[in-house]
Amino acid sequence: MPNHPASPHLPFGENKHAEWYGKDILSVRQFTRQDLGYIFGVAHEMRGMVERVGTFDLLKGKILANLFYEPSTRTSSSFTSAMERLGGSVIPINEVRYSSVSKGESLPDTVRTLECYADVIVLRHPEVGSAALAAQFARKPVINAGDGIGEHPTQALLDTFTIFEELGVGGMDGLTVTMLGDLKYGRTVHSLARLLSLYKVKLNYVSPDILRMPAEVMEEVAGKGIVQHEYPILDTILPESDVLYVTRVQKERFENPDEYEKVKDAFVINPQIMQAAKKNMIVMHPLPRVSEISIEFDDDPRAAYFRQMEYGLYVRMALLAMVLGKA
Ligand code: NCD
Repeated sequence: MPNHPASPHLPFGENKHAEWYGKDILSVRQFTRQDLGYIFGVAHEMRGMVERVGTFDLLKGKILANLFYEPSTRTSSSFTSAMERLGGSVIPINEVRYSSVSKGESLPDTVRTLECYADVIVLRHPEVGSAALAAQFARKPVINAGDGIGEHPTQALLDTFTIFEELGVGGMDGLTVTMLGDLKYGRTVHSLARLLSLYKVKLNYVSPDILRMPAEVMEEVAGKGIVQHEYPILDTILPESDVLYVTRVQKERFENPDEYEKVKDAFVINPQIMQAAKKNMIVMHPLPRVSEISIEFDDDPRAAYFRQMEYGLYVRMALLAMVLGKA
């Protein structure tokens, strides 16, 4: 008879009854206002822990597969940092061309493979609906880190957390948020407009005509009773904006390069333009920026885009802890 050692006491203490245990994060549509209160509370605690101790063992022994079919700096490295600060580890697949994807492996098969080795999968993919497809085949939680021009729910959560931390003392209701730039192809603004519709905010959209916010997003947001206005220029609404959310024109999504050339420099935020804005407002950007915010504006206290990246770490730590049953 083989001599079986007594089963060691392993740290398997996740709470399978926790509300978010094992859940996928695919779209901002799945969150209620109450959920945001909870997530922001956990993110706030994560911030305190990182400031006090840096790294701790909440997700010790857990493994994240970071599967990126599109370029990324912030999303990919902040998920890695989030997992490692919680004591877990990461399988990074940033260059799918060096993985079996380049041999023609399907997304479902790649996901089925990675979940044998990991406890949670973060996926960025160029096709709308790819994260939902992956989630259909995966037993482990899938987190959407951007599906083409579709959604970018974790970015919208960190964007909303940024607004909450920087301006939300008196509550989020009543704020005016102006989104500027490529509202057609920018997935961050598709998710953010939907998520902000949980609050009584006013939304302005400023873009070239060919890059307007998709009708389906506007209809969904209108259905929540939110006032939305579209403008071709920023001038009239900048002074009333509490948040100016600037986006990059998404060169890689244009079918015709001439169209991109026509609109790429449509808006440039600089210190002169910002003289017309309030003193206690913030300028955000999901980054990377190209030329839509001049570097001369970076030292202005209203430039929140670098702080916004840091808030992203805390929100992603919160989400990982939640879906792995530790928050
Ligand atoms: C954004 C993205 O990938 O959608 N970046 C990000 O995740 N911070 C925005 C962009 O690429 O312009």
